[in-house]
Formats: sequence, C-alpha cells, structure tokens
Amino acid sequence: MMKLSVKDLELQGRRVFVRVDFNVPVKDGKVEDDTRIRASLPTIRYATEHGARVILASHLGRPKGERVEKYSLRPIAVHLSNLLDKPVAFAEDCTGQPAREKVAELKDGDVLLLENLRFHAEEEKNDEGFAKELASLCDLYVNDAFGAAHRAHASTAGITKFVKQAAAGLLMEKELEYLGRALNNPEHPFVAILGGAKVSDKIPVITALIKRRVDKILIGGAMAYTFFKAEGFTVGKSLVENDMLETAKEIRKQAEQAGVALVLPTDHQVVDSFDPLHSRKTIPIEFTNAGLVGLDIGAETVALFARELEGAKTIIWNGPMGVFEEKGFEEGTVGVAHAVAAAAERGATVIVGGGDSVAAITQAGVADKITHISTGGGATLEFLAGDELPGVTALNEK
Ligand code: 3PG
Repeated sequence: MMKLSVKDLELQGRRVFVRVDFNVPVKDGKVEDDTRIRASLPTIRYATEHGARVILASHLGRPKGERVEKYSLRPIAVHLSNLLDKPVAFAEDCTGQPAREKVAELKDGDVLLLENLRFHAEEEKNDEGFAKELASLCDLYVNDAFGAAHRAHASTAGITKFVKQAAAGLLMEKELEYLGRALNNPEHPFVAILGGAKVSDKIPVITALIKRRVDKILIGGAMAYTFFKAEGFTVGKSLVENDMLETAKEIRKQAEQAGVALVLPTDHQVVDSFDPLHSRKTIPIEFTNAGLVGLDIGAETVALFARELEGAKTIIWNGPMGVFEEKGFEEGTVGVAHAVAAAAERGATVIVGGGDSVAAITQAGVADKITHISTGGGATLEFLAGDELPGVTALNEK
C-alpha cells in the first residue's frame, strides 16, 4: 500500500473531512442494513480517539442534484450515534452556511455528518468550485469510501487538489489489501464465483480473471443462461442477453485456451411463465422447455459448486445465484454462502462482494467466517477488472 494512510496524519485538533460510503438501504427513516456504516467505524473511532474534529460526508441513492427527503442522511446520523455511543451532529447541507456553522461548533473528538452530497449536481460533475467549497471545511482529507472509489466525483477526487493531505482510511486500506492480494498474488487453486443477471456487467472481470490465471470460474444467476443459449441449449423464457451470445462464446474460447474451467449449473429452479406462483420445480438444465423461466440454481448445482471449492485456497464471490430477493428463490445463493464459509473454515481466503452475495452471507449466518466482506459493489468489480479507481488514484503517495 503506497498511499498515505490516516495513520500517517497528525490529527489532533484538525478538522478532518472523511468521505464515507453510507449509501445504505433506508426505509421509513430507519437504516435497514448498516454493514457499510459499521465498516467505517474503525476509521471514525481512530480519528476521534486521536483528537480529530471529524466531518463525515456521503452520498445516498441517486437524487440527481435535487434535495429529495427520502435520501436525507439524517436517519444515518441517529443510527451512527447509537453505534458510536456518542452524539453525532448533523448539518442540513454539505456546503454553505449550515455546514460552516456546524463545523465551527466542533470540538476535538466530535463527529459531524453532512447532508447528502448528491443534493448538489456539482458533486457528480466533479465541479472544481464545489470541490473547493468542501475542502474549505477541513484541514485534512481521508477517503474511506471504497464503495464509491470508482466514481470521479467532487468528494472522492476533486477535493484532493485543495487539501494539504489526502489519505486512505482504514476500511479503504483493508479493501485494497485483500482485493489487491487476490488479484495480484492469489494462492492457488483460485476460484471465482460469479452471478447476477447480466454477462455484460461481468465481462471485464471475467476477462481479467482469465488473464490472471484464475483456475476455475463458477457461473450462476441469470447470466448462465446467456452462456447456455450460446451453446445451443433451450433456456425457455429465462433472462438472456441476446446481444452477448457471441461474447459468451468468445469467453468460453478464451477460458479454454488459458486452461480455465468455466463451470455452469447442471440443474435449476424454474416456474411456468403462465402460472409462476404454483409451478416451482427443480429440473436438469437440458429439460428446460420453451415455457419455463429459470430463477435459481438447483440443489445439485449447489453441491457441484461446493465440490469445485474443495481444496481452493483463494475464493472470490460476486453476484447472486438467482432472484435471491424473492422468497423461494434464495436457496441457491444461501447454499453457496454456506459452501464458501465451509471453504473458509478449511483455510481458504474468501472474499465476498456485491449487495446480494453479502446479504446471503448474513442470511446464512456465516459472516464471521468470511475472510473479507467487501463493501463495494461496482467498485469491487472495477478493481477486480484491473481498472484504476479515481478515488484511490487521487490520494497522496506515502
Ligand atoms: C454503491 O452502492 O455501489 C456505491 O455507493 C456507489 O453508488 P452509485 O452507483 O450510485 O455511484
């Protein structure tokens, strides 16, 4: 890790702007999943314990430059205050008078949360004037928002030009360390499990993993149907990206040439498209007829994937195995959660990223067994695809 760390900064009495990723599900003013908030606690605690005046800033949702009440960070200030067991002040706006006044009231060790950065369109435009205004609130800058590091926004990139020092937070460092090791120096056998609806979202990752000599890629979720259709299988009414069929064939070829095993499901849970509520059944992939929709991998595939993980030393998992959010179709994803947890217990380094996979890990009650649960969605995928993350590039070198 060659970037400056929060641990390298002289924090006592300084106003420290900490960009966090508090983009978490909030419903009726309540935080529904606080994984990302908890993941930032070590940095917040480290800064307060070292006498910093902590100014937290985040986006929530995509309010497109408008003040949208349901995307207010106010409920998060309340939630964070409970987690930290200390008051967390809240500024009604992330810039201007409201922000300046609240910052001026901070004492050493205090915490302030600013209102949603994306209530200003300038944030996503990486507007220089807006970045300068944010920078004027602080002496030092820390980026702990790994989940937003793939965005070149004012609070993740632009601001760094106008602060004395720009360092990585503890969560940012941890994410880069684990993901970096898996990408650059994985212990073999190295197995990737990829799921989700779209092959198109995952192509850069698959290609990068093949280049970096992953040993196997296990593919579940709707993206498997694009591979099946490309092979000439009938997939019924299952989700397929028809414009990706040639790409799927090309990926298979690349994998074969590189000696990487691409493992696809052997069975799946389907419903009849005319009677989806009463027709759920598990069938072999090759029995899929024209009226069926595949919505989850079957038990045989879960067992197959578990066998493929035996002996693995590094495992990366991103993306659900089916429509995990719908009751009755979560078993495949939860089954894989148990399988990766078992592999971790046998000593494998297991890294899980992406909202649904992480939710499945939590639902299966195995979160404590996983080596690293990444807080990134898109950021994790871009990092694993070998892309530069603007929010990391912008930080000072050590
Ligand atoms: C995420 O949830 O992946 C990050 O917070 C980034 O959010 P965005 O995709 O709206 O930029």
